[in-house]
Amino acid sequence: MSIKKVGVVGCGLMGHGIVQVAAQGGCDVVALETEQAFLDKGLARIDKSVNKLAQKQVEKGKLSADQAEAFVKDTLGRIEGTTDKAKLADCDLVIEAIVENLDVKKALFAELGGICKPETIFASNTSSFPIKEMAEASGRASRFVGLHFFNPVQLMRLVEVVRTDDTDEDVFAAARSFGEACGKTPVSCKDTPGFVVNRLLVPYMTQALLMLERGDATKEDIDTAMQLGCGYPMGPLTLTDYVGLDTTLFILQGWKQRYPDEPAFEVPAILERLVAEGKLGRKTGEGFYKWDGDKKS
Ligand code: CAA
Ligand code: NAD
Repeated sequence: MSIKKVGVVGCGLMGHGIVQVAAQGGCDVVALETEQAFLDKGLARIDKSVNKLAQKQVEKGKLSADQAEAFVKDTLGRIEGTTDKAKLADCDLVIEAIVENLDVKKALFAELGGICKPETIFASNTSSFPIKEMAEASGRASRFVGLHFFNPVQLMRLVEVVRTDDTDEDVFAAARSFGEACGKTPVSCKDTPGFVVNRLLVPYMTQALLMLERGDATKEDIDTAMQLGCGYPMGPLTLTDYVGLDTTLFILQGWKQRYPDEPAFEVPAILERLVAEGKLGRKTGEGFYKWDGDKKS
C-alpha cells in the first residue's frame, strides 16, 4: 500500500508543518482550512520554512543554489490549499490536525467518512484523545491510526504511530512508512492516554506550572534549571508557550474528566487563568513570556 496523496485538515501550528514534511517526502498534499485567511497564514509559514531549509542546505554546501531553488519549487508545487472538504475525496491518507476537542474531531471524521474513497486511511494528530473513539466515528475503524507529530514538525525527528485493536496490519505498516518518508523515526504506540511522549511530558510540564503557582521559583529559574540541569533544549514554561497554553489546557481537562483519580492529571489554575486572558503562548505573542516571532522576553 503506498501513500502518494495526502490531505491535512488544519493548517495551524502542527498542520502547516505536517503539510511541509509530507510534501518534502514526495507526496502531493491538500491542505484544508476553515477560512481562506487561516489557509493563507499556514501556506505563508510553509513558504518561509521551506525557503529557510533550502538556504541552510546551501550554506552547509549540501545543495547548490540551483538545486535549492528546484527543491523549493518542487516542494511548494506539491501543495494545494483549499477550504473545500470535497478536495480530500481521492487522498490515500488524511491527517487531522485541528483543535484538541474530541467532539469536533469526531464530527469531522464522521463527515470525512462520507466524503473520502473507501481506501483512504484516516489519522489523527491528537495529543491526548483515544484514537478508537475517532476511528469508530469515522465508520472505518480498521483504516484508522494515530500519527502524532511533534512541534516544531520540521525539526522534531519522532512520529508516534498509534494503533487500536481494530487497525489493519497493512494500514499500520503504511502509516509507519509514511512517517519515514516524512523524515521521521516512527515508534509504535498503543492507544493509551498521551501515548508515550505526552504521558511523560505533560505531567512534567504540569509540575513546573504548579511550582510557579506556588512561588517555589521564578519562571526563568525553572527553565534554566531544567535546561542546564537536565540538558533539555528548552525549559518547561518556554515549552508550554511553544505548545500553546490552550492545547495544554485542553489535554489536561480531557484527562481530568476521564481519569479524575489520576494524580498526574491536574489542571493548574494559572493555566486556566492565562487561557481565559487570551494568553495562549508564542502563537498569540504572550503566554508565560512575551514573544516576537522566535524572540522571547
Ligand atoms: N523550517 C526549516 N528550518 C528551520 C525551521 C523551520 N521551521 N526552524 C528552524 N530551522 C533551522 C534553523 O535555521 C537552524 O538551522 P542551522 O542549525 O543550520 O542553523 C536549525 O533549524 C535549528 O534551529 P534553531 O537554532 O532555532 O534550533 P534550536 O537548536 O534552538 O532548537 C528546537 C529549536 C528544535 C525547537 C529545540 O529548542 C527543541 O527541541 N525544543 C523542544 C521542543 C519539544 O520538546 N517539542 C515537543 C513538544 S510536545 C509535542 O509536540 C507533543 C504534543 O502533543 C503537545
Ligand atoms: P492550532 O490551533 O495551531 O491549529 C488548528 C487549526 O485547525 C487552526 O488553524 C484552525 O483554523 C483549524 N481548524 C479547526 N477546525 C477545523 C476544521 N473543521 N477543518 C479545517 N481546519 C480546522 O492547533 P495545533 O497546535 O496545530 O494543534 C492541532 C492538533 O495537533 C491538536 O489535536 C493538538 O493537540 C495536536 N498537537 C499539538 C502539538 C503542539 O505542540 N501544539 C503537538 C502535537 C500535537
